[in-house]
Amino acid sequence: MSNKLGTAVVTGASSGIGAVYADRLARRGYDLVLVARRLDRLEALADRIEQETGSKISLLVADLTDANGVATVEKLLRDDPSVTLLVNNAGMAVTAPFLDHDPVVADRMIRLNITAPTLLARAAGEAFAKRRSGTIINISSVTALAPELLEGGVYASTKAYLLSLSQAMQHELGPKGITVQAVLPGATRTDFWADAGTPVEHLPQEIVMSSEDMVDAALAGLDQGELITIPPLHDIGLWKAYDAARRAFEGKLSTSFPAARYGARTPVNA
Ligand SMILES: NC(=O)c1ccc[n+]([C@@H]2O[C@H](COP(=O)([O-])OP(=O)(O)OC[C@H]3O[C@@H](n4cnc5c(N)ncnc54)[C@H](OP(=O)(O)O)[C@@H]3O)[C@@H](O)[C@H]2O)c1
Repeated sequence: MSNKLGTAVVTGASSGIGAVYADRLARRGYDLVLVARRLDRLEALADRIEQETGSKISLLVADLTDANGVATVEKLLRDDPSVTLLVNNAGMAVTAPFLDHDPVVADRMIRLNITAPTLLARAAGEAFAKRRSGTIINISSVTALAPELLEGGVYASTKAYLLSLSQAMQHELGPKGITVQAVLPGATRTDFWADAGTPVEHLPQEIVMSSEDMVDAALAGLDQGELITIPPLHDIGLWKAYDAARRAFEGKLSTSFPAARYGARTPVNA
C-alpha cells in the first residue's frame, strides 16, 4: 500500500459532488481511482488534485449503465488490496411526470442508480470483509424520505432503494468491521439538475446547497460515526423520530393470522 489511508474509489468523479469528494479525500491523504465516462474532465481534475496534494490518481473510464463497465470497476475493487474506501456517487435523475418517463431512460437510471452501486458495494464489501476493514459511502438523496418531492418518482425510488440497502448493509457488514454510510443530500448546485430537465437556477436558491458544503458536512458526519447523514436537516430529532417509528415495527410485521381490521377470525388460543 502506497500510503496509510489507502485508495479511495469515487464513481461519478468527473463533476459535481464526486469531484468534491475526490478533492477532499486527496487532501485527507487518500490516493484515488476516479471513475466516470468523460475522460477529459477526469484528466483536468486529476491534474489539479495531483499538483495540489501529491496524491496518486488513476482514472477509469467506465459507463456504469453497462454491464462491462460495472464489471471493470468490480474487478478493481476485488483485486486491488490498496482500496479502503468506495464512494458510490454516480447517479442521474429525470424530472418528468411518471407517465411521461421515457422507458429507455428510466431503465438506464435504474441501472446507474441501483444496479451499479449494488454490484460495486457487493464487490467492495467482499474484499473489505476479508480484511475486516473498509468504508462504503452510498450517495442517496432526501427524496428517499419524500418520494413526492421530485416529479416522476422513479429517481426518488432508486434513492430509497439505496437508503434501504445501506441500512441492510450496516446490519450485516458492520460486525465484519466495515463502515457503511448513506448520505442524503438535498438540492445541491451541480449539473445534475440541468441534465435531469430542470436547471438548478429554476429552484428557490434558499433550498440549494453548494457541493463543497454538502461533501464537507457528509465527511464530518462520517468522522462523527453517523451512518445516515442528512446535511440539510437542521433538526436531527426529526430523523431520530422517523427511525424510531420504523424500529417500533420490529417483531410486529409477520404473524400467522391477519389483523382484526380485515375481519379475520381470531384464533382460539390468541
Ligand atoms: N445535485 C443534487 O441536488 C443531488 C441531490 C441528492 C442526491 N444527489 C446525488 O448525488 C450524486 C452525484 O450527483 P451530482 O449532483 O454531483 O451530479 P453531476 O454533477 O451530474 O454528476 C454525476 C456524475 O455521475 C457520472 N455519471 C453519469 N452517468 C454515468 C454513467 N452512465 N456511467 C458512469 N458515470 C456516470 C457523471 O460523469 P460522466 O458524465 O463523465 O460519466 C458525473 O461525474 C448522484 O448520485 C445524485 O443522485 C444529487
